[in-house]
Amino acid sequence: MLLRLPLAGSFAQLAKIAENKKSSIAVSKEAVDKPPLTIYMLGEEVLRNPAKRIVKVDSSIRELAQNMLITMYSAKGIGLAAPQVGVHKRILVIDINLEDPDAPPHVFINPEIISSSATLDTYEEGCLSIPGVYLNVVRPSSIKLSYRDEMGRHKKMNADGLMARCIQHEIEHLNGVLFVDRVTDKDELTKQLKENDFNQKDVRTKVI
Ligand code: NI
Repeated sequence: MLLRLPLAGSFAQLAKIAENKKSSIAVSKEAVDKPPLTIYMLGEEVLRNPAKRIVKVDSSIRELAQNMLITMYSAKGIGLAAPQVGVHKRILVIDINLEDPDAPPHVFINPEIISSSATLDTYEEGCLSIPGVYLNVVRPSSIKLSYRDEMGRHKKMNADGLMARCIQHEIEHLNGVLFVDRVTDKDELTKQLKENDFNQKDVRTKVI
């Protein structure tokens, strides 16, 4: 996921208080000239293929997570799902604290949303696979999630705010769904897709 505006400092500070443990997969958040992975763009079929569950969390999965993080940081994104780099595995990386070099990123393996709030939020989303397009999407405000971390440990998390938003956006990538499929303002969608040289026919209107 991509944000139009730089993150507010307060977001980073809040998250820093919540997370003080070091992560084993943390990499430098500085952009690199040649990111290890290529991000696929709207219109490329690879984004529409559903990803498979990861059976064993081993060093190859941790290496994938690190390469995804380097690629995400280089593109100034806050979330990236494996199908976006052509890998059909159920893994995503998220870091909503780009401005804080010490805040560890999150790796979610086989993430499943256990429950979603009835309360909905409208929030402007962007996507590393659809650069330049930023549009409102309605989603549940908070979620409860189960997943494995980069060490294969079972975890549960309650997420709200930007974190809940980003997790939901990224999980949809694992199912071949893109945020533009969920945009309700079709006129603005058409306009922004055109401005950024994307094709309207690559948006799917029937979403599960
Ligand atoms: Ni995205």
